[in-house]
Amino acid sequence: GDLGVLLDGKYVSEKVKVQIAEEAAEFLSKTGRKPHLVAILVGNDGGSETYVASKMKNCEKVGFKSSLHRYDNSVTEAELLAKIEEINQDADVDGLIVQLPLPKHIDPEKVTETIDYRKDVDGFHPVNLGRMMRNLPCFIPATPYGILLMLQEYNIDTTGMHCVVVGRSNIVGSPMSILMARNANPGNCTVTLTHSRTKDLKEQVLQADIVIAAIGKKNFVTADMVKPGAIIIDVGINRETSTETKSGFKLYGDVDFDDVAPKSSFITPVPGGVGLMTIVGLLKNTLASARKEIY
Ligand code: GUN
Repeated sequence: GDLGVLLDGKYVSEKVKVQIAEEAAEFLSKTGRKPHLVAILVGNDGGSETYVASKMKNCEKVGFKSSLHRYDNSVTEAELLAKIEEINQDADVDGLIVQLPLPKHIDPEKVTETIDYRKDVDGFHPVNLGRMMRNLPCFIPATPYGILLMLQEYNIDTTGMHCVVVGRSNIVGSPMSILMARNANPGNCTVTLTHSRTKDLKEQVLQADIVIAAIGKKNFVTADMVKPGAIIIDVGINRETSTETKSGFKLYGDVDFDDVAPKSSFITPVPGGVGLMTIVGLLKNTLASARKEIY
């Protein structure tokens, strides 16, 4: 069949960032300050380094202030929590994120709950997750938020669709399943949340009008698992070393793109899809925080 329409993360993210930049400039002229995002990075995980660098660079691009606090892997939990509490008190900071994963001796739940929920632009704090479930104003986790913005941009009405989410992580799968079931558009779906322990996973995915693949396994979703005409959202960013690219890495999605694209109606590429939209979600949350639109 014909290739599905490409859901172009490059195009959409650049378009939304132009709008964010205009709004940041307006905020600056009204208040005399820029929206300010602070990131904490512990250790030197290659993926985390890349993501945080990209977040900081994109802040500069849209006229936000950004600050990065780096710690060695040996930092204690107490030191980290003390820093978070200091940043919580800083009136010049609108958003605070701690890049995950953290070293094993640091409890990510403690870290997440120590961040002031009013600055939790990652949307991981229990207050924000609870408010999201109740359809109240909140920070929506950046990747799910980016996926909603992408669907909106292409005027995809998901009402009444069967959405199958593959993967139940705190960061993507679990919040995404809640957002797609909410009384909203995008949303209004019948949602099945599948994961590594789902027995008849292929049969479940075959029922989907929209598949959201976030299981972290390269090329996991193949054409034989996909209903003709399905919408395919690929959240995978599986990094493999490669001699083909100048970075020394190649990214693979959770979807076998070449296999699945001819069967789909819409599909996100990797790279160039959801990853770029995640940053947009984070920037929009930071701007909303600066403008006190939520809290
Ligand atoms: N690690 C993977 N994704 C994310 C994210 O969206 N935010 C943070 N802080 N860490 C992550």
